[in-house]
Formats: sequence, structure tokens, C-alpha cells
Amino acid sequence: ATGAITLDPGYKNSGSCKSEITFLDGEEGILRYRGYAIEDLAEKANFLEVSYLVIFGELPTAQQLEQFENDIRKYTLVNEEMKNIIDGFPKTAHPMGVLSSLTSALTAFNPKVVNVENEKEMYDAVCKTMGKFLVLATWTFRKRSGFPLNYYDNTKGYVENFMRLMFELPTGPYAINPIVVNALDKLFILHADHEQNCSTSTVRMVGSSHAGLFASISAGVSALWGPLHGGANQAVLEMLEEIQKDGGDAEKALARAKDKNDPFRLMGFGHRVYKNFDPRAKIIKKAADEVLAELGVNDPILNIAKQLEEAALVDPYFVERKLYPNVDFYSGIIYRALGIPTDMFTVLFAIGRLPGWIAQWKEMRVNKEPIGRPRQVYVGAPLRPFKPMNER
Ligand code: SDX
Repeated sequence: ATGAITLDPGYKNSGSCKSEITFLDGEEGILRYRGYAIEDLAEKANFLEVSYLVIFGELPTAQQLEQFENDIRKYTLVNEEMKNIIDGFPKTAHPMGVLSSLTSALTAFNPKVVNVENEKEMYDAVCKTMGKFLVLATWTFRKRSGFPLNYYDNTKGYVENFMRLMFELPTGPYAINPIVVNALDKLFILHADHEQNCSTSTVRMVGSSHAGLFASISAGVSALWGPLHGGANQAVLEMLEEIQKDGGDAEKALARAKDKNDPFRLMGFGHRVYKNFDPRAKIIKKAADEVLAELGVNDPILNIAKQLEEAALVDPYFVERKLYPNVDFYSGIIYRALGIPTDMFTVLFAIGRLPGWIAQWKEMRVNKEPIGRPRQVYVGAPLRPFKPMNER
């Protein structure tokens, strides 16, 4: 009915982009940030070090890292009037929705960040975003828990502050557990960037109109929230808890996942790019064993997850479709052992992904890339004459 459809051959495809930040090979299960293997970074670096690498392109010297951490500390205070915004949310609001709104609201209190004109302004925007986003992310939990909102402690580290901001109560100081900090460092590193995934492409797309960094990150938070994307880490835990309640039968869960009449999906399985294994899932699975052992946590959910993985890896449905555990399959089990509530799991994904979003937005702006404008193949109705009301 529509005949041959061809796109204008001269059209520049803005659906993809060139980037120097992250390389991943879906067949070989390779992931590198600025040329460094994720396995090395997860084992040997800390999150702020990797954030610097992802954003500025090089591993920092000790002095550069200290300077970066101190420059972030300049901006960890959030305008007190932001509390009026968070107070407008019901306690039942999902933290990701609150975080997206608060991040966008940052523009109102920091209008300069909308259009960075030079390297210094870009650097300040990076530090402001790293500092304020972490505080706002924890405020979403404090608000829905009825706890007073905490302030960043500039005498402590970035990841240590996350735990303090989340759990320190006026009744006394929060004891930082180095095991927890190490585990979070590793998890945040593993989430730091992942080339043009759904939320990062959203950040680039929104930023390509020259909307500001906060507005672009806010859009990325909304995209990440979806259960097919970052929301999967919360959905995995809810799925595992459901399976546990249902007697822990892995085969039954697999049968449901294969049943096309059943909307149930094996959350944490499958990936648009990785078709043999997700290298992050391998590292996180090993870390889950280590962290739970170090913390003396024996969580039956971990065994259910392992049974599911073992059963799926020999099931033709999953093997034929190349469905393997992804980054979200085991991460929630560690978060749970660290005392993080389930509805905050995707917020932690956002904290980890923040440097990647910033880096990709910065790259797109520094390279003066054109406004994003994906094209389409039109398959709708051909030209037709108007139909008067009495003929419809
Ligand atoms: C992330 O892109 C990134 O890099 C994302 C991310 C990042 O770091 O930014 O890696 C983070 O988002 C990881 C993915 C988290 N999402 C989930 O775990 C949700 C569950 N997974 C699926 O919804 C799915 O696997 C996706 C969304 C991850 C990938 O979707 P695809 O590649 O489009 O796969 P598809 O939907 O086309 O499915 C292909 C087939 C279908 O069956 P058939 O029609 O061929 O019979 O595989 C089936 C699907 O029904 N399938 C699943 C399944 N995933 C795909 N069946 C059961 N359970 C699943 N999880």
C-alpha cells in the first residue's frame, strides 16, 4: 500500500555517535573505560578515581584525585529551599521519581550550569553535579523514611558519605564499615558507564538541544527507572523474593519466563548487546559471595539466584536466545546485605552511572555535536483526499 520507502540517502544518521569513553564487545564480553579493563578498575581503583577517568579521560594522579574530591566538596551543600520541593512529595513516591524531579530543580538554583561556555565552567558543572546528586539521592530515602535530611561531611570520602547520608541519625554517629565502602566502590565502578544504553542515549539526546546538564541527567534518571533498564535490579529482588515465597522452585520460574502467555520475565537476564555473558555480572556474582561472607550474612536469596542461573544456562529457551545474567541479576543481593532498601536499588544504579552520564554529555557538548534527530521509515497511509464528516 505504501510502496518502496527509502530515507533521503544524504541524511546523516544521528541515531549513533562516536565516543572515546567506553568500549564494549557483546560477543566477547569485554568492557573497558577509556581503554582500561573493567576487571582491573573494579579490583584496583576506587569510584571517584574511575569517575575522574571516565569524565576526563585519564587515571588521576594522587594530587589530581585529591583536588577533584576537594572541588566536589565545594558544592555538596544543596540550597535549603530544595527542601520545599522534596516536602511536596508523599512518602509513597518512588525514590527515582523524586530524584529525577530534584535533579531537574537544581537548574533553578544553579542557572549557570545550563550553558557552560568554557573548560572552567564545565569543570565546575561536573563537580556540582557529582556533589549535589549524591546528597539528593539519599534525601529521597530519608524523606520516605521520615528521617531528617543529612548534610555531606567534607571530612569523609565520597562513598563513605553515601552511607552516612543514608543512615546517620541525630541519635548518634554512623559507624562506617570498610567492607561496605569497598563493596559499594566496586559496584558503583561497575555501573559507571556502558556506552549508548537507553538512559545515556537519553542524556545525550536531551543535552544535544543545549538543555543544561542537570536537565539532561534528570531525563537519564527517568529512563533508567524503567524495569527493562536500571529498574531491573529492584525487579530481580522482588522476583527472587516471590520465588522464595513460592517454595524456591527455579524450574517453575523458568517455565513461567518461557510461557508467552505469562508476562513474567526472568528479570536480570538478557541484554541488548552482551550475547554470551555480561562481564559485570561475573564480577558482581563473585563479590556477592565475598561480601556476604565478610558480613556474615547467609541470605537464601543468593542460593535461589544461583539455582536460577544454573538452570537457565542449560535450558534451550535461554541458550537459544543467548539470555545470561546481566549487571542487575546479583547486584541487588549485595545491596540488600549492605542494608539498602529494595526501592533504593535503582537510585544506587543512578549514583554509579552518574559519571558516565556526565562524561557522555560533556563529550557531546565539547565535540559540538548537532541536535539529535533520529529519522524513521514511514509505513503509514499514503496521500489520501480529505473525507467530509458525513462520509466517515
Ligand atoms: C540494563 O543497554 C545497556 O547497556 C543496559 C545496561 C546498562 O549498563 O546500561 O546494561 C543495564 O538495562 C541491563 C538489562 C536489565 N533488564 C532486565 O534484566 C529486564 C529483563 N530483560 C529483558 O527485558 C531483555 O532481555 C532486555 C530488555 C534486557 C533486552 O531485550 P532485547 O534484547 O530487546 O530482547 P528481546 O526483548 O527482543 O527478547 C528476545 C527474546 C524474546 O523471545 P522471542 O520473542 O524470541 O520468543 O528473548 C526473550 C524475549 O521474550 N527474552 C526473555 C528475557 N529477555 C528476553 N525471556 C524471558 N526472560 C527474559 N529476561
